[in-house]
Amino acid sequence: MSAAHSATCPTGGLEAIRQLLALAALAPSSHNCQPWHVSLLDAHGHPHADPGAAPNALVVGIDRRRALNALPAMQGEMHISAGGFAAIVLNLLRLSGWQARASLLPGACTTQDDALEPLARIELGAFDPGRRSAGLAALAAALRRRCTDRGLYRGSFALHDTMRQDVLPHSLADAQAGEPWHWHVVQPGLRYDQLGAFYRQHAMRDFVHGPAWRETYRHLVFSGTAQPRDGVGINIQSLFGPMPAWRRCLHRVLLHPRLLGALGPFGASAHVGTQIERLIHSSPAVIYLSTAASHAQAPCRHLLAGEAIARLWLAASVSGLSLHPLSVALQHPDLRARLGHLLGCDEELLFIARAGVPRRPANPALRYRRDPSVFCSPPLAAGPAAHHRTQE
Ligand SMILES: Cc1cc2nc3c(=O)[nH]c(=O)nc-3n(C[C@H](O)[C@H](O)[C@H](O)COP(=O)(O)O)c2cc1C
Repeated sequence: MSAAHSATCPTGGLEAIRQLLALAALAPSSHNCQPWHVSLLDAHGHPHADPGAAPNALVVGIDRRRALNALPAMQGEMHISAGGFAAIVLNLLRLSGWQARASLLPGACTTQDDALEPLARIELGAFDPGRRSAGLAALAAALRRRCTDRGLYRGSFALHDTMRQDVLPHSLADAQAGEPWHWHVVQPGLRYDQLGAFYRQHAMRDFVHGPAWRETYRHLVFSGTAQPRDGVGINIQSLFGPMPAWRRCLHRVLLHPRLLGALGPFGASAHVGTQIERLIHSSPAVIYLSTAASHAQAPCRHLLAGEAIARLWLAASVSGLSLHPLSVALQHPDLRARLGHLLGCDEELLFIARAGVPRRPANPALRYRRDPSVFCSPPLAAGPAAHHRTQE
């Protein structure tokens, strides 16, 4: 049975959990590094050992061996990525019929040496198939549909209409009061033009910052559609559109960090900038998420921002819309400060993306994921390779 069928799977066993985790793994993550890890626990808090039964609790955390770390800002992006994943896991469980409850684990991991950083614990509670909600199929469909489209957009974007398509009704932070997140929409006009010009000038920073580019390059995949063995990374065609084998090879060489480091980015700098500006101008809106300065030091803010981002991103996909994050401006402190000034926003910026209807949908064969058998401990038996592609 594929992950897609989990929406109709009425059992509460370990295989059903595996299928839900495979669906949750369709969550977005920076560079598609999928930094999440899930520990399955029994009723005594020990590693779950009974292959015939569901665990009592799941601890979702970050696997530091997979996490991006070339820039300090990447830590926030890892928490955003894992937070979106954890929120999706919680919702899949609740909508399937578990009485699941989440608690956040701020600072649970004290040493930087630990490979795993626990972030949220989800108690599964009792399973009752009668509680299964129609929202499960809607969430499963949105997860399969959502992807990052990086081409030209069209159409219009209305934040409130989009939010009405919420498929994540349950929150990791049920116990916490207040919603300190603010979504903002920038639409064509003077500020929009300034935003386009800002990205034209600065988009190239990704390529010229040595450590950041080396880390990005490690996550680029230059195959046709073949799934990389580790199931992570972004195909070069997801960034620049379909291309034949010889052009993929050329990109592999020209974008190599040693070559870029030695020769500089040739004339590509101007090209990348104008291309991003063109993409922004094709889009009906740029949206961004901020949090009040008073909340800016809250330990779980990135995790919960991840939930807010996943909520909007999935709702957008239900409405036929796509998002394309433009994170470079948030990854470098000087750019972040200039962007805040340009947007007239004195809150902490957490996420920025252009939004709209993609003119050409992304190729689903280029969407790679890790199977729960490799991101869970104790390891789950591998399921059918729902997202794996055959080798070319
Ligand atoms: C916090 C965050 C930041 C991201 N920043 C960028 C970005 O700057 N540029 C980009 O093209 N994609 C960005 N992405 C999208 C990821 O690359 C994408 O989610 C990942 O490759 C998986 O692909 P999918 O979203 O199509 O499933 C970001 C995703 C997240 C969660």
